[in-house]
Amino acid sequence: MSRTNELIDLENQYGAHNYHPLPVVLDKGEGPFVWDVEGKRYFDFLSAYSAVNQGHCHPKIIGALKTQAEKMTLTSRAFYNSKLGEFEQFITKLFGFDKVLMMNSGVEAVETAIKLCRKWAYQKKGIPQNEAKIVFAKHNFHGRTLAAVSASTDPQSKAEFGPYLPGIEIISYNDTEALSQIIAKDDKIAGFIVEPIQGEAGVIVPHENYLKEVAAICKKANVLFIADEIQTGIARTGKMLCVDHAEVKPDILILGKALSGGVLPVSAVLANDKIMLCIKPGEHGSTFGGNPLACAVAQAALEVVLDEKLAEKAEKLGEIFRTELKEMLSDSELVKEIRGKGLLNAVEINTDEESKLAWEICLELRDRGLLAKPTHGNKIRFAPPLVIDAKQLRESIKIIAESINKFESEMASF
Ligand SMILES: Cc1ncc(COP(=O)(O)O)c(C=O)c1O
Repeated sequence: MSRTNELIDLENQYGAHNYHPLPVVLDKGEGPFVWDVEGKRYFDFLSAYSAVNQGHCHPKIIGALKTQAEKMTLTSRAFYNSKLGEFEQFITKLFGFDKVLMMNSGVEAVETAIKLCRKWAYQKKGIPQNEAKIVFAKHNFHGRTLAAVSASTDPQSKAEFGPYLPGIEIISYNDTEALSQIIAKDDKIAGFIVEPIQGEAGVIVPHENYLKEVAAICKKANVLFIADEIQTGIARTGKMLCVDHAEVKPDILILGKALSGGVLPVSAVLANDKIMLCIKPGEHGSTFGGNPLACAVAQAALEVVLDEKLAEKAEKLGEIFRTELKEMLSDSELVKEIRGKGLLNAVEINTDEESKLAWEICLELRDRGLLAKPTHGNKIRFAPPLVIDAKQLRESIKIIAESINKFESEMASF
């Protein structure tokens, strides 16, 4: 049996079956590349769901990890630590907020934002206790905790996990009319939490004025505009934040994933004092949140993004990706749409969500040395590490076009 099959069997036998991975077993990563246990090299076009924007094992981030790991890793927040304050100053100045609250996984930061929004609703907006509501968009993805799945509209994420969290309202994504209407008829609405581009839903890019209008509607109604930039943030879409394209600032900003360059789970919630100070000592926390190792790693990860101008790079390379892939696939009956912003892109295959075609295309991509994964059946997301260069990107575009074209004649059978 190959080493690959041996290791897949082990995961199948001893691990919970909560994922359906592409059959490839990865062992090593460097920059835009990963290698499997057989020594085969691939372009990584998933980047661990946009956590590895800075590239695999970036030497500066790994250097910071090693240095800090040898000194101190965890103090808990029972004490101050020598890294947290300086990092808090750095990240708040970088994103223009008064304060930050550090957590670990993305969904923990989402939970934190929900809790913060509710506290604010009772303390500042005057909503009666236990009656605050938060609006979410259809087809959202904010993670896997009970609060996040309560707000989900995806039966796979949600079914049989009830009872669900109350105080959640759902409206269509990319629909400011729906937002205005729900806010107008319900004065218990405290916040609207939204992804600037819906990543997991299949890279759904809203209309150009969407975020600007959302910000204005929320501001007028004293409703908090909460941006979940866990996937879109940290240069992925061609700006440091995706909301920067619309030149708006959310009341609460949620970051995760690439905040650590994919090295550790590090997430953050940013807000100004009038919101953040609604949470007082003892009311929220995490043993690992804000640990010195995470702070050292996140500081290095953000510096890499700035030093290497990864946002500008993503903007430029994203244009190349969409333009050249569209040209190469212009005659393809298989492609419904190629869309995205910066280096967060997707090809929607011209089948329904139940079709296996996108999965088969991903297996073909794998065989040709490029890793990507379908989301919601027929959408293949293409999100390489932002350190990829133009030559490597063009090589990848060719692999993608050739892999899709291979199935052109077979489409009818799927
Ligand atoms: C927009 C968004 N929010 C939240 C999450 C959850 O992050 P985590 O898996 O780190 O909990 C994700 C993960 O894909 C995401 O894309």
